[in-house]
Amino acid sequence: MNFRVRPVHRLVGTVEVPGDKSISHRAALLGALADGVTEVQGYLEGEDCLRSLTAIQMMGVEVTRKGPGHYRIAGVGRDGLIEPGDVVDCGNSGTTARLLMGLLAGQPFWTLLTGDESLRRRPMKRVAEPLSRMGATIVGRADGGRLPLAVRGADRPRAIAYDSPVASAQVKSAILLAGLRADGPVTVTEPAPSRDHSEMMLTAFGVPLERGERRVTLHPAPLRATSVQVPGDISSAAFLLVAGALVREARVTITGVGVNPTRTGLLDVMAAMGVSVRQAPADGTAAAEKMAALTVETAEPVGTTVAGALIPRLIDEVPALAVLAAAARGTTAIRDATELRVKESDRIAAVKRELGRMGVRTEERPDGMLIPGGQRFQGAHVASGGDHRMAMALAVAGLVADGETVVEDVACVQTSFPTFVDLVNTLAGGPAITVSA
Ligand code: S3P
Repeated sequence: MNFRVRPVHRLVGTVEVPGDKSISHRAALLGALADGVTEVQGYLEGEDCLRSLTAIQMMGVEVTRKGPGHYRIAGVGRDGLIEPGDVVDCGNSGTTARLLMGLLAGQPFWTLLTGDESLRRRPMKRVAEPLSRMGATIVGRADGGRLPLAVRGADRPRAIAYDSPVASAQVKSAILLAGLRADGPVTVTEPAPSRDHSEMMLTAFGVPLERGERRVTLHPAPLRATSVQVPGDISSAAFLLVAGALVREARVTITGVGVNPTRTGLLDVMAAMGVSVRQAPADGTAAAEKMAALTVETAEPVGTTVAGALIPRLIDEVPALAVLAAAARGTTAIRDATELRVKESDRIAAVKRELGRMGVRTEERPDGMLIPGGQRFQGAHVASGGDHRMAMALAVAGLVADGETVVEDVACVQTSFPTFVDLVNTLAGGPAITVSA
């Protein structure tokens, strides 16, 4: 499937983005492990999060869909999961694979995990290594470092204090999930704070945690079922925010967006670039996560530097940010972002290659990129490489390009943002993006 993207002059209105991908995965996995029924509203019905629901069903958990995004998960308790009868296919979802590996490290049975071509290339050693230290047996390709792999959980995982070399919420969460059945407290320290949705949701499920800025300790305990309201995904909102900043006549409001400070790096960077995104706090919270309505208007962005502890707070937003930066006045530098090389695609290489086809010059660095500003996007044929966030970033570039842009290989958008095209077209007041076979 391809997107055909026409440039637009106007982008106006108020929309709601689908539920947060990270929070949806966690609601499925913690709901499965809890005692009692967890009701989840606003669950992201994208392919990635549906993979997590299928996985828990394969382990004997009853999941009932009560309406759009509304699920009833009949938890079986920490000790109630059963060995799945077939290979669990995590599709494109790194979060499903890594968080499940953590959960399974504390389950005394064998599970086989695989994924699509992209996921089978991504590193799993970063979770396999600490989980093995906790007593799990993990065998697979590349010495247990690549899918497909098999996990045999420990009867009782060993307590661990793990100093993670990467600021990765997936690594941290995998260890915490394994820790739920451990024989003592489990501590993870990370080099910079990564998203803390696991910590917030574990607390909501009644699991005792001690938290510092870069450290968390979990004390093994049963989980109490609860209800979870998933906020809108700021990583999806990001594409509409960047489009709103760049389209000539724009005023875009996105309601109900999760604004957990570990996820709002893009808003800080946009502010530093002179693009103000107004936040109107929404009533109430979702799973103790803060929500807000975000409004952006056409702006004249300037270049900036993005590095250090900011990186984990906007790691998934870099493809969209690169589009904003290319149109800004002055150069933008993105550093300390080596992790981009191991996402759904190598996003440093992909940005350079695909924006390059649109006539936009970027300089690749091992850990990031330099993006000279003041550039125009030329309509072109570009390709997502199967990476959902590249597909959407390129579509946003197409909205402000000279001439028509075709983005190839866009079925992947279904993994995280199934309503992307509809929302863009609603805001544009017509078919700015059409989907063709
Ligand atoms: C995620 C964490 C991030 C992010 C991914 C989702 C999560 O990955 O890129 O899209 O839900 O924990 P890392 O933790 O590997 O950085």
